[in-house]
Amino acid sequence: MAEMRAIEITQPGGPEVLKPCTRPVPEPEAGQVVIKVAYAGVNRPDALQRAGSYAPPPGASDLPGLECSGEVVAVGPGVDWPRAGDQVCALLPGGGYAEYVATPAAHCLPVPRGMGLKEAACLPETFFTVWSNVFMRGGLQAGERFLIHGGSSGIGTTAIQLAQHFGARVFVTAGSAEKCQACLDLGAERAINYREEDFVKVMKAEGGANLILDMVGGDYISRNVKTLAEDGRLVQIAFLQGPQVELNFALVMVKRLTITGSTLRPQSVLAKARIADQLREQVWPLLDAGKIAPVMDSEFPLEEAAAAHARMEGSTHIGKIVLRV
Ligand SMILES: NC(=O)c1ccc[n+]([C@@H]2O[C@H](COP(=O)([O-])OP(=O)(O)OC[C@H]3O[C@@H](n4cnc5c(N)ncnc54)[C@H](OP(=O)(O)O)[C@@H]3O)[C@@H](O)[C@H]2O)c1
Repeated sequence: MAEMRAIEITQPGGPEVLKPCTRPVPEPEAGQVVIKVAYAGVNRPDALQRAGSYAPPPGASDLPGLECSGEVVAVGPGVDWPRAGDQVCALLPGGGYAEYVATPAAHCLPVPRGMGLKEAACLPETFFTVWSNVFMRGGLQAGERFLIHGGSSGIGTTAIQLAQHFGARVFVTAGSAEKCQACLDLGAERAINYREEDFVKVMKAEGGANLILDMVGGDYISRNVKTLAEDGRLVQIAFLQGPQVELNFALVMVKRLTITGSTLRPQSVLAKARIADQLREQVWPLLDAGKIAPVMDSEFPLEEAAAAHARMEGSTHIGKIVLRV
């Protein structure tokens, strides 16, 4: 087949700029595979890309979509695994909102035992992001107090489960009672409804946070710095309320804090392959055993990608939204 169905961003704007289109089926380059997509995960960075504020890195597809599940149908030179016919889930440089997508073989992982392709499509983006930021960069240790903002998000629901599994004490913020309850059900020790309670006060009463994962930014940055315990770490993965703030750095010095962060997509193929290796060793056995699983919010057909984005930006969802291809 030479042509495939896909969803393209016709111009920067709201969900309505996502429109069905026809594109050539990609060919695998050296080290890549082509996957016949079964499901594609929907992530907040897709909405940022659609709005014109998160350009694809050089060489990546302009089509949205950072993760998928499906069957490998073509293999480029130099690939030992996966093979044609294997079912995988994969982190993508872009292009997941389509019938076929090319991605480095090293960014594929097996579909966990007993898990459907729908759930598997929702693993790569949040598990790569949480593992690299919370464990590799943030150095979360068992027994530490870990505060996750946006606890009910795709990222948050993954972070709660992994942190809890590895023995951390998990605290979250979320914007409604229902979202707070979902976080508690997943293993959070305390869920703070930020519309009713001040997370700084709650966490200080606990002795402060050793690690904070933040996607909000804005005035949360100075409040996070106040919230951190001595030697605490703040890992910034997004700025839903903006990146430019005034900050008193004296607290950073006095409490010996570390402020860091990262974005996944622009990192090298090798860097992302290293994250995949750690996930395969340390996290996939937990998924195989059913000890952790993605939290599913809703499913839309590929053609209704605009409705999926509207649901995500309406922020009533809990967990992951997925497109059926
Ligand atoms: N750095 C990276 O590599 C990377 C990779 C993937 C995702 N991300 C970022 O991580 C965040 C979560 O991604 P996701 O796909 O899991 O998204 P998502 O499910 O849409 O989650 C966004 C969450 O943020 C909360 N939130 C708090 N303040 C907000 C505000 N001012 N505006 C909008 N939402 C607000 C929302 O719920 P409530 O406010 O109701 O609690 C919601 O749970 C996104 O910002 C995304 O860009 C970063």
